[in-house]
Amino acid sequence: MRPHISAEDGRLTMGGVDLVALADEFGTPLYVMDEDRIRQRYREFRDAFQSLYPRVRICYACKANTSLAVLHILRQEGAGADILSEGELFLVNEAGIPPESVIFTGNNKTDRELEAALDAGVTINLDAVHEMERLEGICRARGMTARVSFRVNPAVDPGTHPHLSTGLRESKFGIPEEEVLEAYRRAAAADGLEVAGIHMHIGSQITSTSPYEEACSRLMDLVGMLKQELDVELEFVDLGGGVGIRYREDEPYITPGQLAGAVVPIIRDKLSEYGLEEPELYLEPGRFIVGDAGVMLTRVSTIKATPYKKFIGTDAGFHVLARPLIYGSYHEVVVASRADAPPEEVVDIAGNVCESGDILARDRRVPAIRPGDVLAFLDAGAYGFIMASQYNSRPRPAEVLVHAGGYDLIREREGFEDLLRHQRVPERLREVR
Ligand SMILES: Cc1ncc(COP(=O)(O)O)c(C=O)c1O
Repeated sequence: MRPHISAEDGRLTMGGVDLVALADEFGTPLYVMDEDRIRQRYREFRDAFQSLYPRVRICYACKANTSLAVLHILRQEGAGADILSEGELFLVNEAGIPPESVIFTGNNKTDRELEAALDAGVTINLDAVHEMERLEGICRARGMTARVSFRVNPAVDPGTHPHLSTGLRESKFGIPEEEVLEAYRRAAAADGLEVAGIHMHIGSQITSTSPYEEACSRLMDLVGMLKQELDVELEFVDLGGGVGIRYREDEPYITPGQLAGAVVPIIRDKLSEYGLEEPELYLEPGRFIVGDAGVMLTRVSTIKATPYKKFIGTDAGFHVLARPLIYGSYHEVVVASRADAPPEEVVDIAGNVCESGDILARDRRVPAIRPGDVLAFLDAGAYGFIMASQYNSRPRPAEVLVHAGGYDLIREREGFEDLLRHQRVPERLREVR
């Protein structure tokens, strides 16, 4: 099924822990993460690059999953972080990830975010010339220096879902290639800015190395141009994240080894072509590290067979797992108590949100499903819990971490008091009329 997930006597286990037993103990919906799998995937990614290019830094894209326990695991592994908000800055700081390994990307940064990043001493990855001008003003006013890079839009189609493509010419992210020279000229001349690197991130769930090759080649030409035209030699080159995972058995995919094998020779060729020293190479994987390390468990409540469709109704919806609605994503679904049962029928697995788009899985061949069964949505570790909301006034689920046959609760289930949190009712509205 997956290397860390198996069916033992028909019961689905992850990291040696029975998932139905977890659903019984902690209730559903429930997110479960596998610590050992996260470590394994991190090491696989790091080692693939380090073996070909030793000066590599893996900045985990924590937008994929900011659970504090997950951040602590990756800090123990030596990961840096790619962050995009003051909240993520707060969390990586809380997890003890050192600021010198943190890069603050994100578009439309507010002055407050720029100030917080400056105070924290993280690298600020500028998304626009206007952002640079504002940061320069902040640095001048405070007499401080910011370590900066620019996110460049390499105008490459990553061949993924349109909502996951971030480096198309029309995309809102980064500065166009045509602006790069002038942007770096101004940044290099600015008092409070220390120009350190260059960045790209072309998209997410990418399943071929060719868009990376094309974008990396363009980025390295820009690195060469900056040396030739401005005599600016960069300390780091950041290729972003985006390596896809296999949500379906028959889906194409790339390994970190294939990606490293494709881009490192391009980087080396360009370095020698332009006579440059080796910069540090940054990578920002998110999904690859945590995606298949997580499952979402939900319990079957109502079964409805109409003349047209059979619906298996669950106690989760897009407020728990948003990806199917947002991206039309596919998650493999396993009946956790009869994981080895053969498929018998075709059904839609419906969420409990009052929206017609809330179908978690369409036209799936599944074994006979009974009310009370626990369903496991695989590969839910990235962009899963982190996108959960309280829509329909349902408190957010709990999260458990499994490790070597044991488990820990890492996030409590919200209660109804969380629906009230931060709300105020003006006194006049309390009056009974
Ligand atoms: C700047 C940046 N880096 C890295 C990532 C991580 O992408 P993925 O989870 O696909 O590896 C993202 C995701 O959107 C991103 O915006």
